[in-house]
Order: sequence, then structure tokens, then C-alpha cells
Amino acid sequence: MLQIRVKPGIEDRIRGFFPWIYRPEIASYSRKPKKGELVVVRDFGGKFLGYGYINPEANIAVRILSFDKEEPITPELIKRRIKEAYDYRKRLYINSNAFRLVHSEGDLLPGLIVDVYGEYAVLEFTTYGMNTFRDAVLEAIVELLRPKGIYEKTSSVAKRVEGVEAKEGVLWGEVPKETTIWEHDLRFVVNIPQGQKTGFFLDQRNARKFVRSLVEPGDRCLDVFCHTGGFALNMKKMGAKEVIAVDLSPLALEVGRKNEKINDLSGIKWVEANAFDYLRKLDSEGEKFDVVVIDPPSFAKNRHAVPNALRGYKELCVRGLRLTKTGGYMAIFSCSFHITESHLLEVLTQASYDVRRQVRVIAKTFQDKDHPWILQMPNTLYLKGVWVEVV
Ligand SMILES: C[S@@+](CC[C@H](N)C(=O)[O-])C[C@H]1O[C@@H](n2cnc3c(N)ncnc32)[C@H](O)[C@@H]1O
Repeated sequence: MLQIRVKPGIEDRIRGFFPWIYRPEIASYSRKPKKGELVVVRDFGGKFLGYGYINPEANIAVRILSFDKEEPITPELIKRRIKEAYDYRKRLYINSNAFRLVHSEGDLLPGLIVDVYGEYAVLEFTTYGMNTFRDAVLEAIVELLRPKGIYEKTSSVAKRVEGVEAKEGVLWGEVPKETTIWEHDLRFVVNIPQGQKTGFFLDQRNARKFVRSLVEPGDRCLDVFCHTGGFALNMKKMGAKEVIAVDLSPLALEVGRKNEKINDLSGIKWVEANAFDYLRKLDSEGEKFDVVVIDPPSFAKNRHAVPNALRGYKELCVRGLRLTKTGGYMAIFSCSFHITESHLLEVLTQASYDVRRQVRVIAKTFQDKDHPWILQMPNTLYLKGVWVEVV
């Protein structure tokens, strides 16, 4: 098997269970590496550090799957980890038939995402190395779930950064254009083939539940970047009199309208617009809301994009705070792992200063527990949200 040695100093981080090795951190190779092959990682002096897979073309060149000399990477290991991930989900009592079954590094399976929507599963291979285990992954999913169908999605990152061949479509069985899932007492239509990500933003499940504790009958609410109405439907369900839901995607809004209907709700105003423009418009018209939720897509795809992203978050916070009534609530989220919780708090502080409003933090929410994160990898905590009351 290919062997690599890392540069002096890198070994401490790896012994601390950080599983990524960046290309410039590799001191030597036992031979020319091939994309996706397995590798033994050693410190500069030759001591064993772990087993991983390598992609010499990617910046994150090696991802370690095992820090145990007795546990080399085999298809059986991959299958066992998927089973362990499934057993963990069973213990969570998620109040939904849709959940993330495998969360990449969070389940010690870097490069693999598996989402379950009722009787269907969606797979995403985000690294070249994990893609080489696709047969084992497929076998494990079929054995565990006995699904009606499995769909494969490819992320643009996988293609661009890792050179994974573009594959998208039904891998196994049959997958309909739309399926319906339930979350708490609401039902949601999920368009697996055409929807964003794997079809639904499962990671916001606990935040969608939390918003219910803030909405009172008769309230006026705003769901910005609403996608298919995750927050809007919960707001309406709690008796909000008026809900405005804004998104740029016509497909997401079309599904949102279906969601409203299948839940026997009515009165949500679905607005197709650029959220930045629409917030400016609402603000210039002097509109005010009891609850405002702002859940944008990732603005910082890499660390160089952070300063621009922070300007975007600040603008959203300024508008959001101005649109929130005194005594009302606002939430701002970031789903980029380059934007930390401190970044969000800092931006909120600046925004509250600009709008001259006193703000009380009432809660923080994170990706739900079927998206576990690794303590030694702070960047696996990618989704964070701050909920405030405008005093
Ligand atoms: C993180 S998702 C929101 C998920 C949603 N809150 C839920 O619970 O399902 C972000 C959404 O922002 C939308 N979006 C992206 N850029 C936008 C823009 N400039 N204006 C409005 N919506 C935008 C995307 O279409 C996507 O639906």
C-alpha cells in the first residue's frame, strides 16, 4: 500500500484526531500516488498515524478513516460504519421519516452523504476516494433500509475539486419525481431529482421546531430564503395571521405552495424575489413583523470569501432588525463552515449598533443531531443560528 510521511509538527494534529492532511503538509511518498487509492500515513520518523485515502490533485489530499493500526480500510469497514450510523439515528427518536443517515466526517465516513426520505434514499459522493467504495455503500444501504429507490446526486464541489465523474440519477429501484415526508405534524413534498441539495434542508429541523415557541396566534411573520416553506409552514401552523415567504427559486416556491395545500393551511404569501432587494423594499415601506427568520445559502464557499460574506450577513441583520417589531424576534443563520458563531455574533452586534436597537439573545440553534460534528474538527459544525429579541 502507498505510504506517506507528513512534515514534522503535523503529527500532533493527526494524533488529536484531525483527519485531513493538506497537500503541502506531505513530506514524502513511497511512490507516485494514484487518485483515490488507500494510503498509510506516517509521521516524519515513520511511526504509524492512520489509514486514509488520497487525492493528489485536491488541496485536502488525504482523509483519514482509521487511526487504529488494527483497523485498515476495507469495504467491510465502510459497511460497518454505515450500520453504526444507522443504529445511532434509531436512538435519536427523530420526529420525522426523513433524516440524514450518513454525515460524512461526522460519521467517520468522509466524502459520503446519505439522506433518507421515507422509502427513498439519496446518496452523494463528495470525494474521489469515497466514490471508489460505491458498491459497498450501495450494498449497505439496500441491506439496512430495503428502500424502494436510491438516487445519486453529485455536488459541484465533488466535480470541480475532487474530479469525481458526474453521475446523477436513479441508482437502484425507482424514485418518483416527488415524494412526501413528514416532520412533526407537518408534511412536506420533496422533489429529489430537481430539488436543492438532496431535496430538503433536514439540518434545520430543530430550528423549525423552535420557531413555534415564538409565534403567537395573530402574528405577522417573515420567512426569508424560505425554500419550500420550512419555517413559513410552522409559523402558519401556530396561528400566524400573515406569513410572507421569500425565495429566488420558482421551483422551491411551487413546492412550497403544494406544502401549504397538503397541510390544509392557507394565507401564506409566496414571493419570488432576490431577498436583499425585497427586504430593502419592505423596509422602505415601513413594514414590521413579530417574527423574522433569515436562512440564507452559504455565502462563503472558501475562506477568501469571508469578508464579502460578512458584509452580506450584516446587511441581512440590519434589514431584519429594522423589520422586527419591538418585543419581536429575529433569527439569522449561516450554513458556511467558514463563518463561525463569533462571526455571526459580531455582525449582529454591528448591525444592532447601526440600527440603534437593544438586542437580547434568546437562543442559539445548530444543525440537528442527525448531522453530528467532530469536536476536533470545528469546521464540521457548519450550521449555526442566533435568535434574538429586539428589546
Ligand atoms: C438554506 S436554504 C433555506 C432553507 C429553508 N429555511 C428550509 O427550512 O427549508 C436557502 C434558500 O435561499 C434561496 N436563495 C438563494 N439566494 C437567494 C436570494 N438572493 N434571494 C432569495 N432567495 C435565495 C435558495 O433558493 C434556497 O431555497
